[in-house]
Amino acid sequence: MFISFEGGEGCGKSTHARMLKEYLESSGKEVVLTREPGGTQFGSTIRKMLLDNDLSIEMTTEMFLFCADRVEHVEKVIRPALSEGKIVISDRYIDSTIAYQLGGRALPEDLVRYLNWISSKGLVPDLTFLLDIPVEEGLKRTAERGKTNRFENEILAFHERVREKYLEIAGNNRQRIKVIDTFKGIEETQKEIRGHLPAGRQV
Ligand code: TYD
Repeated sequence: MFISFEGGEGCGKSTHARMLKEYLESSGKEVVLTREPGGTQFGSTIRKMLLDNDLSIEMTTEMFLFCADRVEHVEKVIRPALSEGKIVISDRYIDSTIAYQLGGRALPEDLVRYLNWISSKGLVPDLTFLLDIPVEEGLKRTAERGKTNRFENEILAFHERVREKYLEIAGNNRQRIKVIDTFKGIEETQKEIRGHLPAGRQV
C-alpha cells in the first residue's frame, strides 16, 4: 500500500506521517517513511538547491528538479519497498507538483501533468491525506519554527493558489484523496486519518 501526505506550509503532515508510521508498525506492519524532495541521496542534494533562499531558479528549472528528484525516489525507494510488500508513506508526492507548480507557479498545465506522469511512471498512491489549514495559520506556524525556506517566503497569494489547487484536485479524486481539517488538535486529527485506512490495517 502506498500512502501520501499533502498540504500547504505548516499543516503538520510530517508529524502525522510519522505518527501513522508508528501506529502501523505497532500493529506489525513494515513501513517505509520517505519524503519529496529528498527521499534519496541524490534527492537530498536537489532538495538543498530547491529550498535555498539565496538561489534564483527559473520556474521551469524548478519543475525539472522536482521531477528529477521523483524519478530517483520512485525507482530507488518507493517501487522496491512496495515490491517487498512494505507500506510506503511519502511526505509529499505528485499532488504537490500539481498544487505548487501548476497552482502556485501557474506553469502550463500540459507540461506539469506530462512531467508528473513521466517522473512517477504513472504510480499513483492508493490513499492520500490532504491536511488542510488556512494559509495564514500555516505560515504563522512555519515562521515560529525559525528560518524559512524559498517556498515559505513566497507571497500570500501564491499559498492561496496552492491551497485552492489542492482542494480542487481533492474534489476531483474523492476516492483517493481525503481532506483532513487540522483544526482539531493532533490526536483527533490522527484518529480521523486512521479511520480512513482500509479495514484490516487498523488495530
Ligand atoms: P518541505 O520542507 O518538505 O516542506 P514542508 O515542511 O511543508 O513539507 O519543502 C518542500 C517544499 O517543496 C514545499 O514548500 C513544497 C515544495 N514542493 C513543490 O513545490 N513541488 C513538488 O513537487 C514537491 C514535492 C514539493
